[in-house]
Amino acid sequence: MNVRVVVAAAIVVDGRLLLAQRRRPAELEGLWELPGGKVEAGETPTDALRRELREELDIETEAGERIGVEVPLADGLVLRAYLTELVSGTPRALDHAAIGWFSAAELPAVDLVPNDRMWLPELERALRAS
Ligand code: CDP
Repeated sequence: MNVRVVVAAAIVVDGRLLLAQRRRPAELEGLWELPGGKVEAGETPTDALRRELREELDIETEAGERIGVEVPLADGLVLRAYLTELVSGTPRALDHAAIGWFSAAELPAVDLVPNDRMWLPELERALRAS
């Protein structure tokens, strides 16, 4: 079976990480995630990230280096995070319940979706380095 990739963006501006609060499915409603989504046929992962962030948050971005482990999901999907630069625009929650910006000190107390908790060490490092 083809492994399909889900991409997620770690966008840090002024020492804060952009997170988006999920509306669905019910078991993830209200939890915060790195925004992103599934890579579609014919797309590179970084193309998909650019498209998802445009669709979900109305921002223009450029994916940089990958961070953290690749997380296996159900149905042959794997989840990857990329450090991502905000090139232009102000993020708006077009698909999520809300967006928020979180510092390294705040991050451990945020209700992240379980998969994204795997990246906490790298996210905190990226925040502290910024
Ligand atoms: O929007 P799209 O259907 O392309 O993707 P999604 O539903 O946002 O994400 C696909 C899968 O990846 C779901 O199971 C999400 O829960 C998971 N995901 C995640 O665990 N962490 C993220 N930061 C983004 C997606």
